[in-house]
Amino acid sequence: MHERSSVGELAEQLRRELDRYSPGGKLPSSRALVERFRVSPVTVSRALAQLAAEGLVVTRPGAGAFRAQPRVSAAPAGDTSWQEVALSADGAADLVPRSVDASGVLVSLAAPPPGVIEFNGGYLHPSLQPERAMAAALSRAGRRPGAWGRPPMEGLPELREWFARSIGGPVTAAGVLVTSGGQSALTTALRALAPPGAPVLVESPTYPGMLAIARAAGLRPVPVPVDADGVRPALLADAFRATGARVFVCQPLFQNPTGAVLAPGRRGEVLRIAREAGAFVVEDDFVRRLVHEDAGPLPRPLAADDPDGVVVHVCSLTKATSPSFRVSALAAHGPVLERLRAIQIVDTFFVPRPLQEATLELVGSPAWPRHLRAVSAALRARRDAMTAALRLHLPELALPHVPSGGYHLWPRLPDGTSESALTAAALRAGVAVTPGRPYFSAEPPAGHLRLSFAAVAGAGEITEGVRRLRTAWDEVLG
Ligand SMILES: Cc1ncc(COP(=O)(O)O)c(C=O)c1O
Repeated sequence: MHERSSVGELAEQLRRELDRYSPGGKLPSSRALVERFRVSPVTVSRALAQLAAEGLVVTRPGAGAFRAQPRVSAAPAGDTSWQEVALSADGAADLVPRSVDASGVLVSLAAPPPGVIEFNGGYLHPSLQPERAMAAALSRAGRRPGAWGRPPMEGLPELREWFARSIGGPVTAAGVLVTSGGQSALTTALRALAPPGAPVLVESPTYPGMLAIARAAGLRPVPVPVDADGVRPALLADAFRATGARVFVCQPLFQNPTGAVLAPGRRGEVLRIAREAGAFVVEDDFVRRLVHEDAGPLPRPLAADDPDGVVVHVCSLTKATSPSFRVSALAAHGPVLERLRAIQIVDTFFVPRPLQEATLELVGSPAWPRHLRAVSAALRARRDAMTAALRLHLPELALPHVPSGGYHLWPRLPDGTSESALTAAALRAGVAVTPGRPYFSAEPPAGHLRLSFAAVAGAGEITEGVRRLRTAWDEVLG
């Protein structure tokens, strides 16, 4: 027998017989194979080496050859299903499993299909964005000396100063970190303040993107109901007592989704309750600059009335500019600042300097106050157009609160209405709306829709969108 083919033939023979041995089981000795197959010891050792190269056999010098344990993956190349195990296996010991789910956030970020009216957008329509002023600011910023250099890790001093002034009260530039948008600032804050497995008190309902951050960090969101005056203090105190939580996330101004403003009498109470519980309040002041023209004077941020370092304040410029203008701030005082700073540096280093310089150019230009006034007037007109259209075409929808800031309404659905059937029918009719369910971290008390009036082209689209919603309504409930 020619040596090479006899190696191949023996390997094939052994391959066929491997099933006789259990995984890890010993194969006959080389001498036994030599005798049985009448081949040379070299042929036996080459045949075994071939099977070993194929991963079918393991040879241990001095001990013999063994059937290999089943391969970790018998999957074809390109099969990534192993990652499902890898991504969850570590969580086996976690008290609260981590889950990363972007769907709640993507609803307000994704572009709707062509021809669909966007009542689910979370940012200003391009026609309301200060596009020219941003472009001019960016081009001036790019020419500033050192614009492409490394900025201080905490942010440009002038920008920290500007944020501190706009927050007010005891907040100083030294207590401000420049961050990359509200989402990133909230992530830093939650990671800094609560270890995996810890409870975190959240308003109910609340912004799904924040719930997603909490879950991705392995935190356990515990809902505290909100009414027309913001979070209910007695329930907040109960929740702190029941959970021992050290963090409460709150949107005191034009809360997303309800539009509620924390009542003056509750502001101090919330801070006192948190202070007594030894807990932080993360204040997400996300739409202060989207106040409507007819609103009265705005309450200050909670951080402006907080001498004890209870509040970790988050504010972002994206809502008043563009989702791409990802500049925001975290403000705090006390040792927590160092923790926030460390996490921010570890996670992202710093916000690109040209963007920080552009922010200074933008907010320092005469176009900025003009832009804010224009947005204020436009949002009021859009809110009124949507409210009027809903009252005319969909009187069945309850609108308990019409906000004087922010960019959306939060109508309540009649009991028993299926949010998912209605949102699906709406999309078929040509209008994208957001269902209320993702805003609740536990079972919702009622069905809702969130209808944004900022991301559409104007009042005409708003009326048309409401008409389409009526069509969907008749299909589902008619
Ligand atoms: C309540 C709230 N906070 C924070 C954010 C994050 O916004 P950004 O990361 O664009 O600043 C959003 C976005 O929709 C929001 O609704």
